[in-house]
Amino acid sequence: MRRTVLVVDDDVAILEVLEMRLGSMGFDVTATPDADKAIFAVQHARFDLALLDLRMEPMDGIRLMEQLHLHQPRLPVLIMTAHGTIETAVEAVQRGAFDYLTKPFVRDELRAKIGRALAARRWARDRERLLFVGETLASSGDMGRILDAVAQAALETIDAERCVVFQLTEGRLVPMASTGTPPTSWGALESAASLAMSKGAPITTTGAEGQVLVAAPLVVERGPAGALVIEAPARVEPTEDDLELLALFSAQAAVAMRNTHELSRLRSGALAALGRMATQVAHELKNPLAGLRLYARHLEQRLTAGGDGDSADLARKISSTVDHLAAVVSEITAFGRPPELHRVSMALHPLLDECLTFARARCPREDVEIERSYDASCPDVRVDARELRKALLNLLLNGLEALGPSGRLTVSTVYAAESGTVTVLIEDTGAGMTEETLARAFDLFFTTKPEGTGLGMALARSVIDLHGGALDVQSAPGRGTRVRVRLPVGERTGKAGARA
Ligand SMILES: Nc1ncnc2c1ncn2[C@@H]1O[C@H](COP(=O)(O)OP(=O)(O)OP(=O)(O)O)[C@@H](O)[C@H]1O
Ligand SMILES: [Mg+2]
Repeated sequence: MRRTVLVVDDDVAILEVLEMRLGSMGFDVTATPDADKAIFAVQHARFDLALLDLRMEPMDGIRLMEQLHLHQPRLPVLIMTAHGTIETAVEAVQRGAFDYLTKPFVRDELRAKIGRALAARRWARDRERLLFVGETLASSGDMGRILDAVAQAALETIDAERCVVFQLTEGRLVPMASTGTPPTSWGALESAASLAMSKGAPITTTGAEGQVLVAAPLVVERGPAGALVIEAPARVEPTEDDLELLALFSAQAAVAMRNTHELSRLRSGALAALGRMATQVAHELKNPLAGLRLYARHLEQRLTAGGDGDSADLARKISSTVDHLAAVVSEITAFGRPPELHRVSMALHPLLDECLTFARARCPREDVEIERSYDASCPDVRVDARELRKALLNLLLNGLEALGPSGRLTVSTVYAAESGTVTVLIEDTGAGMTEETLARAFDLFFTTKPEGTGLGMALARSVIDLHGGALDVQSAPGRGTRVRVRLPVGERTGKAGARA
């Protein structure tokens, strides 16, 4: 791919000489004596280099350089002067020029300075991007954040308009990160991604409106796990170096994906072991707790009969605390053996309303607003009402509990006929979660609440999983939380394979 160079000099003879020489060095040359035309050119095309004469009227080379840098900040500029003094050279470099050239040109000097300007630009640019992605990769275990950083770096590398990172999930390409303007056609990006994945190497194609599409596969051990796709305007042609850098970025995205998979495998193994242990402990606690409750009741009755009201009150407090403990224990034991689902076809909205009523009763809040927005086209769903009620109730309670004064909880549903799924969104304007809390929110017994047991989210996820659905959470400190529950409308059994 040919590099492009812009030459501006009010001496037409010099323009001609430079056009010839640079052309013979393999450049695409745009030469003009007119500063306005030069600015227009930089607004409409990307240049690899500019050669500007210092003494020009009405705009001198340094001012013109500053104008060009407004549109293309990293454009390397060589300032040309016939009366080169060290002061003008220093000024030009201080104001952003890469170097200066003295007229008349010495052939080797021209070639050498141009070569250095191009190499230095690449090096500075690539080093910056690689450092940025590398640091994100090292400092964050959050796949979404790493993929965003990779997409951003890839976008800037090619001066592209957008970059999307796709992940292959259950045979479908799912966009995981997207930077730049929203794509005009997802279909074209997806086809480019599939092509790169089946080839196993970066590819370049042309979009419907002449855009340049570049896709690089994300390869993990078992083969391609997705692809990184870039869409650039027709005038931007990626160079070999660009493609090499893209391959490097996609390798980094692949590392992020692999790490996330491995981490979640490790976690679920550890969680399963923890769950088994918790269930055994809970089981051992059941009988002594039942005994304790019986003794406390006896005590209460005796004290009441003996007329000692104050002590009877204390005994009543003991029984109610024991009741609370017994309820927690039975919830934990229920975890150990996922329930058989008893699915029936039912309307989702009345169930949601019922859960909302329960949630408000358990967490009375007069100072908050609750908003519902149900999709009327939602068909009935085949679910286990009891289980789903537990899951939704926990999610709604978390939302309510997170709200500050005059916060808002929004519950909405959306039906997607083509995928046969209903999505329930529970959004709160509460405190949100830190990255660490979000990463651990589904862990058994993880809680940040003084009275919490840390079972709500884990339970909700296991119920939704059993229904063959998906539960995910987006949250950031100070920006509230958005919980998304996707449920298949028809019968699709989950991991336990239970059906009514
Ligand atoms: N909507 C939310 N907003 C902010 N933080 C949340 C939200 N939902 C969950 N969390 C965080 O996740 C943690 C775990 O939630 P989970 O529902 O599992 O337990 P809990 O609410 O603490 O206790 P409980 O067992 O009583 O539900 C919470 O302690 C809280 O830090
Ligand atoms: Mg909870």
